[in-house]
Amino acid sequence: MTRRSRRFAGVPLPLALVLTVSACGDSPSITTGGSPQARHIAGSWWLLLWLATGVYVIVGTLVVVASVRRARRRSGGEQADRGQQDAPAVDNRFILIGGLIVPVVILGVVAVDTVRVANRIAPAAAAPDAPVQIRVEGERWWWRVEYPDEGVVTANEIHVPIGEEVDITLVSDNVIHSLWIPQLNGKQDMIPGQVNHLRFTADREGTFLGRCAEFCGVQHAHMQFQVHAESPARYDAWLRANGADATSVAGDAARTGRTFFETSSCAGCHTVRGTSANGTAGPDLTHVGSRATLAAGSLPNTAAGMEEWLAHTQSVKPGSLMPQVPLTTAQIESLVAFLRGLQ
Ligand code: CUA
Repeated sequence: MTRRSRRFAGVPLPLALVLTVSACGDSPSITTGGSPQARHIAGSWWLLLWLATGVYVIVGTLVVVASVRRARRRSGGEQADRGQQDAPAVDNRFILIGGLIVPVVILGVVAVDTVRVANRIAPAAAAPDAPVQIRVEGERWWWRVEYPDEGVVTANEIHVPIGEEVDITLVSDNVIHSLWIPQLNGKQDMIPGQVNHLRFTADREGTFLGRCAEFCGVQHAHMQFQVHAESPARYDAWLRANGADATSVAGDAARTGRTFFETSSCAGCHTVRGTSANGTAGPDLTHVGSRATLAAGSLPNTAAGMEEWLAHTQSVKPGSLMPQVPLTTAQIESLVAFLRGLQ
């Protein structure tokens, strides 16, 4: 923050306000990047901001000067008027420089910078050598996340170790989505029939927000996820825990919930490894209790949030492919006990 403050010292107040807002806390801003790729993009953003600010200030100043001159001329009487008529009507040099040369130089600088950054943030090609391989599938409206080498399947959250290159394979079998983690890299589309890749190397620990950046239907706005960048040791521990089958169920309510889950329509769409539930239409719930949110960022993953989701699925997320299953309060409570225990 101190480095930022010094850099912003002396800027005009409105600009300082913009900068202050953009630097705020947890907002997924490209100006608080957690990878070299994001910082390259942020560099371009700052370049554009300063160029645009410069143009704005110069044009604004000229407009004010011209208005003042015109007002003075009007009040200055006929003599001044005659003086003006003797002056050349138009200064062609000014039009040549301000209207042609300066814009060409500015656009040239922006074009060179864009090509430079596009090359540095890694093209959308596979990096088979990248130590971390993840496959993310865009669903309506959530994210299916797989670590093929480790046999881990989860949803709506991605864990990565800091300091290691990550290659995310992006696919979709329904409509076009776009995976965007502003603090880690630019957007990359998930297009049916095509395989794209997103690569980045997180270089600091943190939780980075991601969201779908391509309109994909009625719940596009509720298609969020989190990226947890953590130390390699914590990442390995997470992989081991999430690669294992569901933890054993403790308590009567949870046991009742498990039986209900396995014998009701839940099991038709969801997998809980280690039980007989093996549906694949919806998110894998083997370790759902350890996740931060429910329904792709729609609700916090608390007991109350889970009850809300089960009781009012279609009002929390209208149009969601998860149907509103009629459940009694007792059934909801036992399901919540079972699912919250899946750590
Ligand atoms: Cu998926 Cu918008």
